[in-house]
Amino acid sequence: MKRILCIGAGYVGGPTMAVIADQCPDLTVTVVDINAQRIAAWNSDKLPIYEPGLEAVVRRCRGRNLFYSTDIPGAIKAADIIFVSVNTPTKTFGAGAGKAADLQYLEKTARSILEHADSDKIVVEKSTLPVRTAQALSRVLHSNTRGLKFRIVSNPEFLAEGTAIEDLLHPDRVLIGGMEESAIEEVAQIYAHWVPRERIITTNLWSSELTKLVSNALLAQRISSVNSISALCEKTGANIDEVTRAAGRDSRIGPKFLKAGIGFGGSCFKKDILNLVYLCEHYGLPEVAAYWEQVVRMNDFQARRFVGTMLSAMFNTVADKKIAILGFAFKADTGDTRESPAIAVCRQLLEERARIRIHDPQALDNARIDLKDAAGDITYCEDPYEAVAGAHALVIMTDWKNFRDLDYERIFERMEKPAFLFDGRNLLDPEKLFRIGFHVYPIGQKPLTHF
Ligand code: NAD
Ligand code: UGA
Repeated sequence: MKRILCIGAGYVGGPTMAVIADQCPDLTVTVVDINAQRIAAWNSDKLPIYEPGLEAVVRRCRGRNLFYSTDIPGAIKAADIIFVSVNTPTKTFGAGAGKAADLQYLEKTARSILEHADSDKIVVEKSTLPVRTAQALSRVLHSNTRGLKFRIVSNPEFLAEGTAIEDLLHPDRVLIGGMEESAIEEVAQIYAHWVPRERIITTNLWSSELTKLVSNALLAQRISSVNSISALCEKTGANIDEVTRAAGRDSRIGPKFLKAGIGFGGSCFKKDILNLVYLCEHYGLPEVAAYWEQVVRMNDFQARRFVGTMLSAMFNTVADKKIAILGFAFKADTGDTRESPAIAVCRQLLEERARIRIHDPQALDNARIDLKDAAGDITYCEDPYEAVAGAHALVIMTDWKNFRDLDYERIFERMEKPAFLFDGRNLLDPEKLFRIGFHVYPIGQKPLTHF
């Protein structure tokens, strides 16, 4: 039985390995992490992350051919193939601070493989990394004096949170880059258990590393493009949802990923674009760097613009006003709040001395952590109707589908008048809300106001 190890039991390592174990009963899959609490949670009834469908997969495999463990040395010794899925955040210190990827976790992982391995291994880059990281990884691993050989393969992950299990089961493509055909094929054989061969793309190492950054950059660029046009729509009377629906019908443009909103969040888009920007600067391409950096700038502009709209609609002051924030996660169907636009919006509102009431179906624990150092009046509400009681404004921050089914007549009754509704996701029907009595401010559309 081949033994697969994944180092890093996070949003990627946890679900990806669960699906591999489920689809490949002939493989033994172990996931390790330096965070013992996280491993304990993976072994408990309350998994450390919320992801639709994940629990059922873990329950089926855990203890059978899927193991979560803190014994990193033992797991490294036993493994044939090691996936590295540790975090690669933006560097916050020293050279490249604010842009470059912080590769200390990757290097520490390489050094623990170096220390504990006693046989040849395939090492798979699952984390998102700057192009040419495999070269550094190979140098560290081949500094061993025992003659051990490590074949490095790049296999970036394209899953999106909230749909991770679906994405893993039915990927558009699996990308495997490497130097040695044999190593590429061994990794391809894992996926070939359930992914059609024509969806398994193989490339050289550097193309694979770079493709991951480029894919995220292109996706984020679409959102920033649409959000930039939403600002123009608000000035001209065009409606962004109509514009994207019509433009997206062109099969060369396509309808997906054109939804205007308060901007993209999540742990990766911003960090990966900044990483790309840093790489371009490093390789002496300032024009290319500036081109991609604008995607992030436009995203920040959109969140600031949204708070600006709220302030001017509410007579230029929100001091002492209660504002109900519906949604704190960076997108629906996840409890993850990393880089959620809700964080920046809430902080700006608190600076304006608003009193905020936050409701989210899955993300309240993370919201408490994100705002723990923020001064001001914050209440976390399990019940959305509690959040809106006595509120001057309601803000839709996350596109949770169940927000569509709330009783807005009841909400309107409970709110102060005039009752403002700012829909940061264009999730609700503005006409219907307007008829109830709200002053409605969608993104990229004319506001519907009563006087
Ligand atoms: P995460 O922070 O949720 O998980 C990373 C885990 O690695 C943590 O639990 C951490 O304790 C562990 N770790 C760090 N150093 C370690 C070490 N030396 N030994 C053992 N464990 C160690 O991060 P994530 O969201 O799973 O992302 C992991 C990588 O995958 C990143 O490079 C990210 O860019 C990429 N990625 C993320 C997503 C996503 O949706 N979150 C999607 C595709 C790719
Ligand atoms: C994204 C990519 O979609 C994945 O392919 C990639 O693997 C992953 O990043 C990663 O590398 O971490 P994720 O961040 O989980 O996945 O979620 P997305 O669905 O891409 O949404 C990102 C943000 O963009 C969210 O805040 C979402 O609300 C926003 N978004 C998305 C829009 O504002 N409009 C859209 O049309 C789509």
